[in-house]
Amino acid sequence: KSFDLIVKNADIVTASERYRGDIGIHNGRISVIAAELDAAQAQQVIDAEGRMVTPGGVDAHCHLDQPSTDGSVGADDFISGTRSAACGGTTTIIPFAMQFKGQSLKQAIADYHQRAEGKASIDYAFHVIITDASQAVIDEIPEVIAQGYTSFKIYMTYDALKLTDHHILNVLEAAREAGAISMIHAENDDCISWLTERLKKQGKTAPRYHALAHSPIGEREATHRAISLAELVDVPILLVHVSSRAAIEQIYWARGQGINIFSETCPQYLFLTAEDLGIDDSFHGAKCICSPPPRDTDSQNAVWNALANGTFTIFSSDHCPFNFDDPRGKKLHGDNASFDLVPNGIAGLETRLPLLMSEGVLQNRISAQRFVDLTATAPAKLYGLYPQKGSIAVGSDADLVIWDTDLDKTITNNDLHTNADHTPYEGKRVQAWPALTLSRGEKVWSEGQYHGRAGSGAFLPCAVPFPVRG
Ligand code: URP
Ligand code: ZN
Ligand code: ZN
Ligand code: ZN
Repeated sequence: KSFDLIVKNADIVTASERYRGDIGIHNGRISVIAAELDAAQAQQVIDAEGRMVTPGGVDAHCHLDQPSTDGSVGADDFISGTRSAACGGTTTIIPFAMQFKGQSLKQAIADYHQRAEGKASIDYAFHVIITDASQAVIDEIPEVIAQGYTSFKIYMTYDALKLTDHHILNVLEAAREAGAISMIHAENDDCISWLTERLKKQGKTAPRYHALAHSPIGEREATHRAISLAELVDVPILLVHVSSRAAIEQIYWARGQGINIFSETCPQYLFLTAEDLGIDDSFHGAKCICSPPPRDTDSQNAVWNALANGTFTIFSSDHCPFNFDDPRGKKLHGDNASFDLVPNGIAGLETRLPLLMSEGVLQNRISAQRFVDLTATAPAKLYGLYPQKGSIAVGSDADLVIWDTDLDKTITNNDLHTNADHTPYEGKRVQAWPALTLSRGEKVWSEGQYHGRAGSGAFLPCAVPFPVRG
């Protein structure tokens, strides 16, 4: 037989097209796409019955089994994180390998390979977080890139992670010379610490004050500064998790100047607001503490517009959940702790695609093609995984999602496959959810069941990112 599997009667959506067809799969790859394929030529046939079929999601921003500097422990490792991803239609993840200060990049990378090995059920690559940009580390960069780690995350805030502007310039220069893209967490660290100090002096320590400490003004300033540093070195960067209208306006400005920058936003900036951190002093608001924090409805609208008009390049989860009821999670310092001591991060791997399909595509805010670009094609191109990942094309991996789009489903954490003890989207209704997810031609999610296997996910070395190819 020519095919291991045929997906028949698919409403195929790519970043540029939408058409009816049958998809033939052999040895984990798409081998033929045609108006009609002969079912007798396949070991197995799945009838999509005219439903939308998109490339499996590429989630280019998630934190799995990432040790922290304060002793907190994230809820998801590579088993539960990839399981949760697959059940929400994501078939490729790019989590972070974080360098501890004093550690070489090679040591950090080796450590994360051990964390993922034998556990991931879907394919993965790594970004490298650079927290120590000493000359020895800068000298390592060309070799790290040659080995398939072609994206670096740089923090402008967090004491244990941040680089000075001088060190950021050194990393950007090395990225430019050797062909990597740098992802920048842009918040003004001194604005945050100064506001935190003032709030605490006034006894304002509840989770909701996190949103005031991490002001949009601080995000705007750091965004502009990151853009300026990139302009100075003349290298493209990606601004991660952009949350506010003020920051988006800096991106519009940079585009107008012809500065080559890329940007990412996340579900929390569309579906949550600062009110989710609490309208009173309840500690439950800690569940939604992440940085930058969710903003107001004006910023939500600006984020929707920037998604629709092409300003944002990619849509990622920034999945980084901590259990709420856990002395190693959100309650690391007790259930009365000041907001600045609460571990930052929320869950999102499993709900990223259903939320954007429901509220974006089905509500006509973005097209289905734009959905595919934001969630699969553009991240695959940006990080050097295209066309193996992020497309429905002959030769690409058979990573596919068949969508149900006529549901009335209420999101509840009990139905999700993360290890986290809560979801920020509890009670939210969606019309869309993957009916089936294929990872290299294998069912990892179908009929409401997870079928993935720990260890079947493969490491993907990244090629040079599209934006920095000469
Ligand atoms: O609060 C967040 N976003 N935690 C994850 C780490 C990061 O900065 O992306
Ligand atoms: Zn075969
Ligand atoms: Zn960040
Ligand atoms: Zn993150």
